[in-house]
Amino acid sequence: MHSAKILLIMENVSAIKAIDLTKHFGKRVAVDRLNIDIHPGELYALLGDNGAGKTTTLNMLTTLLKPSAGEFYICGYNGITHSEDTKGVFSVVSQDVAIYNELTAYENLQFIASLYGLEKEKAQVRIQELLAQADLSDRANDLVSTFSGGMQRKLTIAIALLHKPAVLFMDEPTVGLDPAARRQIWATLSNLREEGVTILLTTHYLEEAEILADRIGIIRQGKLVAEGTIDELRDRIKAIRNVEVRLDKRLAIEEINTKIAHAHSILNMQVSYDNVHNTILFVQSEETKNGTKLISCLEHVLSWLKEENMTFTSFSTNEPSLEEVFLAMTKQAVTA
Ligand SMILES: Nc1ncnc2c1ncn2[C@@H]1O[C@H](COP(=O)(O)OP(=O)(O)OP(=O)(O)O)[C@@H](O)[C@H]1O
Ligand SMILES: [Mg+2]
Repeated sequence: MHSAKILLIMENVSAIKAIDLTKHFGKRVAVDRLNIDIHPGELYALLGDNGAGKTTTLNMLTTLLKPSAGEFYICGYNGITHSEDTKGVFSVVSQDVAIYNELTAYENLQFIASLYGLEKEKAQVRIQELLAQADLSDRANDLVSTFSGGMQRKLTIAIALLHKPAVLFMDEPTVGLDPAARRQIWATLSNLREEGVTILLTTHYLEEAEILADRIGIIRQGKLVAEGTIDELRDRIKAIRNVEVRLDKRLAIEEINTKIAHAHSILNMQVSYDNVHNTILFVQSEETKNGTKLISCLEHVLSWLKEENMTFTSFSTNEPSLEEVFLAMTKQAVTA
């Protein structure tokens, strides 16, 4: 098709660019002035919790949903004013598996190839190539209804790749799959990345983003709250410390909830209570990490405990794991 054109375009423009992209559903702001700039060949993971705005973002970028404000470009095409051109350069693998159970794997691919208007011989070659890549050659003539979830997902990806898109969008590509199937999908994605396909995937698995992505964007309540390579994100959290305090007495849950809400409001830290271990965890928030030295952070926690007449049996501090920081960044303030 116009792959030469795509290559030309891609030499000097972003593969995916969103500028202040916003979506309101009534009063709810699902995506709030999102800015992303993804380079050609990059694998970018949009990481966020349930309801963070991942699917809404993807639906806008793939022209399914009209943005309330902002603009976006795919391989240089304006997604709003030139949506037809835009559609020619990308493919989507959505959260639902969109394949026909009553057809074989080969027939599914053949059917979609005919919709794209691919020439028969060319289509045959491409289909064989994709089946081999997906490790499905020996199951090509089996009905899709006999496929495992992982095999179905791989076929969905193969279908999305039929017309050699420059950009691939994937909404939670491995959700609901067992660890072995998940690894197979990861291998498929790594291969695509090697081939230079630009990939934007959404996920709520930190591990998935960590393993696959060149860059990660963390989205919370529709806003991009952090962005960078995994190493950059790690560097950002280096200065963050958490403090864990084990209380010596158990308090009524209402009382502890009130205290924790109070601590959260005055300490500018994420504060949560673990009922099982009777511990309070204080995590230094991003905003305070540069200005606040660890020692003053400890002092604040200690003086708060004293003020509240709370005695403890242990007090420890450590560097939180990426997982803990991710939780602190993606979740709202935890109050028990
Ligand atoms: N069609 C809609 N009408 C009203 N509200 C919507 C609609 N679609 C999404 N929302 C809201 O927008 C917010 C973001 O939803 P979205 O589906 O984008 O989240 P997500 O990050 O994909 O979550 P998940 O991980 O559960 O798939 C949520 O608060 C959701 O309730
Ligand atoms: Mg979603």
